[in-house]
Amino acid sequence: MKDIFTAPFVEEMKRTTANMYRLGWDERNGGNISYMLDEKEVAEYLDLNHVIRTIPTGFEAEELIGKIFIVTGTGKYFKNVEGDPETNLGIIRIAEDGTTAELLWGYKDGGRFTSELPAHLMSHMARLSVDPENRVVIHSHPTNTLAMNFVHELDEKKFTHTLWEMCTECIVVFPDGVGILPWMLCGTNSIGEATAEKMKEFRLVIWSLHGIYGAGKNLDETFGLIETVEKAAQIYMLTAHLPRINTIQDKNMVELAEFFGVNYRKDFLNL
Ligand code: 13P
Ligand code: ZN
Repeated sequence: MKDIFTAPFVEEMKRTTANMYRLGWDERNGGNISYMLDEKEVAEYLDLNHVIRTIPTGFEAEELIGKIFIVTGTGKYFKNVEGDPETNLGIIRIAEDGTTAELLWGYKDGGRFTSELPAHLMSHMARLSVDPENRVVIHSHPTNTLAMNFVHELDEKKFTHTLWEMCTECIVVFPDGVGILPWMLCGTNSIGEATAEKMKEFRLVIWSLHGIYGAGKNLDETFGLIETVEKAAQIYMLTAHLPRINTIQDKNMVELAEFFGVNYRKDFLNL
């Protein structure tokens, strides 16, 4: 059996959480990550018949029965993952009943998965229904994205359009735009269901006045989606109070989308 501490998926989780912490997006225990793993790969590091303990999830995830995820722990700080992955992360498998998580590794101090597991697993199911290659869901509190929530209308078309205007490559990176949920109580099945509904249409979902969710086929891609929104939001926040003299035009965005061959939300442009 190989050493789990050398597993690429543990390394990637360490790198991603450390990056997010240093970017100031994930203060204290803010943010959470879930990453669906390949069973064969996990079996190189862990005995899949050895369940440390079981933890009820509180919701049904039938489509994910048998699937294995590495997930950040609730109340755990991203800044501490790198130094102690076994306490701050866990590897869980969705049990045969679809409502129990079997702990295969981690949460060493008796902890459990993120309180946002409903939003994560429901988003995985929603994304997998439209993109079988989806593996990762990330939730974060990126500073400028959050700041923009306080000064910009929280309308999907208007918000996406503003972000697309802020950086030339935005429409190419997230042509499907950004979905937006109103302020809702976090950590609940209801916010999970609402997030998953949006995830059928968008890979990025803003939780108004709270943060953002991103989904993608690997950690890099998902991180990159959130990073690009955050960069655009930063440009917006740096310029929102200044006279706007220049802007990327809708016709430029069409040119970009056509040149890079992306399927963009045409109804989010004013053509
Ligand atoms: P957890 O510590 O439970 O992951 O919660 C953090 C968070 O960002 C809640 O939305
Ligand atoms: Zn949060």
